[in-house]
This record gives sequence, structure tokens and C-alpha cells, in this order.
Amino acid sequence: MGGTLVVVGSANADLVVAVARRPAAGETVLGGDTRVAPGGKGANTAVAAARLGAAVRFIGAVGRDAYGDLLLGSLTEAGVDVGGVRRVDRPTGVAAIAVTPDGENSIIVSPGANGALLPEDVRLGGARVVVASLEVPLPVVEHAVLAAEQAGIRAVVNLSPVAVLSPDVFAVLDPLVVNEHEAAGLGDLLALGVRSAVVTRGALGADVVTAEGTTTVPAPKIDVVDTTGAGDAFTGALAVGLANGERLVDAVRAAVKVASLSVTLPGAQPSYPTQARMNRSANSRP
Ligand code: RIB
Ligand code: NA
Repeated sequence: MGGTLVVVGSANADLVVAVARRPAAGETVLGGDTRVAPGGKGANTAVAAARLGAAVRFIGAVGRDAYGDLLLGSLTEAGVDVGGVRRVDRPTGVAAIAVTPDGENSIIVSPGANGALLPEDVRLGGARVVVASLEVPLPVVEHAVLAAEQAGIRAVVNLSPVAVLSPDVFAVLDPLVVNEHEAAGLGDLLALGVRSAVVTRGALGADVVTAEGTTTVPAPKIDVVDTTGAGDAFTGALAVGLANGERLVDAVRAAVKVASLSVTLPGAQPSYPTQARMNRSANSRP
């Protein structure tokens, strides 16, 4: 039950439909064929990190149904240790995702089995970094962070969907990761007490916020196909860098590249690059 990285979070089956535009209230819009793909912010983060070569253990809950099999299959295939995934008598989480031609998405999540995850499911083993995201019960996230702090393990939280954590939990995050929409709702991030924060800004890259100031890491220019799960890929790659002992800003630089490659392909997990693909794309740049 090893794992340099322990990821605590959700696993969802993504039901993805391409639409010309989002429906308004009371309106019906026809879309393309449904694609079913493994997703969920936690499982996405775990798969992204494992593809980059990290030893990853995922803590989560799925149902005893076909979507549960799909999720476990994708995690296992990526090399993630799924010994900490519990199968429960609730339907596996599902995300209904509409993707518009600009690559943006709208997501409705039915957490299902994710809601059955318990603080006692969290086992940190000999991890160097613990990463948690929301879509699982808040007490699980808070327990994971505080247990990490106690064990001297670095804690990273991707606060998505946005939530208010208790001050002692915010106080140990290094970093708190949010996208620009989530950041706007939180105000001054350092005032939350976090050790550091990273704000992902899509095509504009990411801001690294510490007491010393804010550094902007730009993103490469790319053709956006589907931004679903780009933040999860970012968080996974960031955690890999931190587990390897990189400085925060260097880990963010690598994470921006990974997230940028992920948006050039459809879906979340299916679009995450391996370390080999990262190396190829670095070599193909002038
Ligand atoms: O962040 C993207 C993810 O959000 C999707 O995979 C979906 O499952 C939702 O959790
Ligand atoms: Na993608």
C-alpha cells in the first residue's frame, strides 16, 4: 500500500454530450452521441499523476455497478493503487457534462457513492504529498489534511467545487489550488491563512501566490478542444513535482504544460499525457 502521492477524492462516470450551446431554463437542446468516460476530480488527479510516472494511491468510493468497474479499470490501467477504494451500496458518481464548441463545459454531478466516503477510509501510509479535492464529504477532506499535517506530509487541496474549510485546515495548505472563478468567490487567498495558493487561469496560465508575492506562469498557445478535467490534470502534475522535491513555481510550470496538452484532446482521463508524450512535446518545440 505504497504511494508517494495519496489522492483523496471523487470518482465519477462522465456522460459527455457535445452541444452547440447550453440550454436555457425550460429549453431542450439536441446534442451529439453520448460518450461515457472515466472522470471525477479525485480519480482524474490520480490518473494524471500516475501517467507522469508517480507512485499513486487513490482513496475513494464507487458503487458495485458497471461504472464502478469502469473507474477501477481506468485507475488500474494508469498504474494507480486502488487498494484504498471502497465499493459501496450506492450508485457510482455520475457527471452529466455538456461541452460547447469553444471547449468549455457545464457539469452536473450526482455524487452517489462518493458521498459514502468516510474519514477512516483515509490511510496516508508513507506518502510525501496528499492531494484532496471536493465532491466528497467535507469532513473527509479536512481529516485528510489534518492527518497529513500531523504526519509531516505536505497537503494540497484543489478546492473544487469551492467550499469553506475550517481555518486550521486552510492554515496548512501548501498550496491551495483554485481556478479563477473559485478564487473570485474566496477573496484574498493569503488571508485564508494558507501557506501558498495557486490560481489556474486557463489560457493565461497560472498564478503562484505566496507571502513573497505573485508570480504568473504563462501557458503555451494551443487549440482548445475540451477543457474538462484540465484543473485535475494540473493538480496531479503539480503534486508530482512537489513529491519530487521541486520548488512550487517549477512544479506549476510543469503542471501548466500538462494541463495545456490535456485540453487539446476530448475528455478528462483519456486526454492526460504520459511522461513520454510530455518529453516528445518538449522536443518538438523550437
Ligand atoms: O473536473 C472535471 C470533473 O468534474 C469531471 O471528470 C466530472 O466527473 C466532474 O467531477
Ligand atoms: Na481534455
